[in-house]
Amino acid sequence: MSKTLLNNLPSFTKARRRYPSIVQNLKIEVPSIVSAKLSGKFFLIKTFGCQANVRDEESMAGFLIMANMRRTEEEKDASVIIINTCAVREGAEQKIFGQVGNLKGLKTNNKDLIVIVAGCVVQQEESLAKLRKTFPYVDIFMGTNAIHKLLDLIALRITEDKKVVDVPSDDVDVYENIPVQRIAPHKAFVNITYGCDKFCTYCIVPYTRGKERSRLPADILRECQILVDSGYQEITLVGQNVNAYGIDLKDGTTFSYILEEVAKLGIPRLRFITSHPWNFDDEMIDIIAKYPNIMRKIHLPLQSGSDEILKLMGRRYTVKDYLELVTKLRARMPDISLTTDIIVGFPNETEQQFLETLKVVEKVNYENAYTFIYSPRKGTPAALMEDNVSREEKGERFNKLKALVDSQTEANAALYVGNEYLILVDGYSKKDTSVLSGYTESDRVVHFVGTPDLIGKIVKVKITESRVYSFVGELVNE
Ligand code: SAH
Ligand code: SF4
Ligand code: F3S
Repeated sequence: MSKTLLNNLPSFTKARRRYPSIVQNLKIEVPSIVSAKLSGKFFLIKTFGCQANVRDEESMAGFLIMANMRRTEEEKDASVIIINTCAVREGAEQKIFGQVGNLKGLKTNNKDLIVIVAGCVVQQEESLAKLRKTFPYVDIFMGTNAIHKLLDLIALRITEDKKVVDVPSDDVDVYENIPVQRIAPHKAFVNITYGCDKFCTYCIVPYTRGKERSRLPADILRECQILVDSGYQEITLVGQNVNAYGIDLKDGTTFSYILEEVAKLGIPRLRFITSHPWNFDDEMIDIIAKYPNIMRKIHLPLQSGSDEILKLMGRRYTVKDYLELVTKLRARMPDISLTTDIIVGFPNETEQQFLETLKVVEKVNYENAYTFIYSPRKGTPAALMEDNVSREEKGERFNKLKALVDSQTEANAALYVGNEYLILVDGYSKKDTSVLSGYTESDRVVHFVGTPDLIGKIVKVKITESRVYSFVGELVNE
């Protein structure tokens, strides 16, 4: 068996520290061995998890395309396969083991295939050790902070004929000039911050993604200007906690500032994800209200409706703060659509505390909510808390919450029927190519009959039927 080059191994101790970071403007060159071996061949990337991972996929694809590789969806045609992993809950992590396991046959039949496991799962010491042991055929394990080294790691793998592990926990700079191959032709994700400093007690992200660090405004605006100039219709500013943008720049730059500057570039639709209810200030509300191209749809994770649980979670707001924010947003923008994330069954959550969560959900009336059963993540403070709530009880609470959320989602969806909405046409419907699909300003998917020339345009559609998670509509000819 070939040996392994251990460039960097993950360390939770290092990941917990907050090092100063700098902006590095990279000069990227394709190693000649990579061109020689892979030019003209195919790559496949499978991404799990959040927008940060989706945007990372676009960077990895950018590098491989620089090496003159092409994208494929067929595993059997690929010379490079990357599994881009998510560790946010146990279930997400389990999926990865299945995915990597499935590649064994391909690897046996094709000795030249390069299998890479990237993303958040490998950033965890124990998970990486388990992956290395279970799947010795994986060629490269690459951390979330090592994406800029992708081509060099592939070159190492080929020249040294060794497996490569490069998963740094302390290499937390901001890398610019990274190539990008965007997945969607009209909608783009633009990172504004990387990492997270909030350390909510249940969450693995501050360990897998490292220190919260902001890109410089000029770099963000340059990326957005290119998107506007090339006809993109929608930009989503991405960060684990976008309202913390600028804090680390220590020069007074704020999220409101960058949001306004991007809105002024004239992109037809501007979104951001995720905004933390803590430090969602009045200036942010003013900017959102001032620019009609900032979509009136906000994802505002509640997590729990109990002050005691919010405190144990380290969320830094109370139910009162949260509800006040909702009231302010709705007072300024009555048509605003709110979605949320909620965790049930946090360690020792009482029935009473759970009922408080239901009460808040009833009050807010969300357009949609993502609900999760608490999943202990090793290395986080909550994972050390002793828990007196049974799995059955957690399951029952989850079902009750889900039933409430589903009834709200259904009732809110019914309100769309009969009304007209502006739809950004994305492409064909997955099920039927004679049908187009697109998104409302509130980010709801709509299917309608139309001609392909409408793809990439914003058109008016009358909703005729609600299927709860999607709508059917008719084009309104103006
Ligand atoms: N940065 C974003 C979300 C990150 S993870 C934010 O702060 O909102 C997405 C969602 O996964 C979280 O909002 C939370 O509801 C859920 N989540 C995170 N860790 C979890 C855990 N250990 N168990 C269950 N759900 C979790
Ligand atoms: Fe996790 Fe909290 Fe950071 Fe969101 S804000 S990524 S939930 S630690
Ligand atoms: Fe998952 Fe990592 Fe995102 S853990 S949710 S892919 S930051």
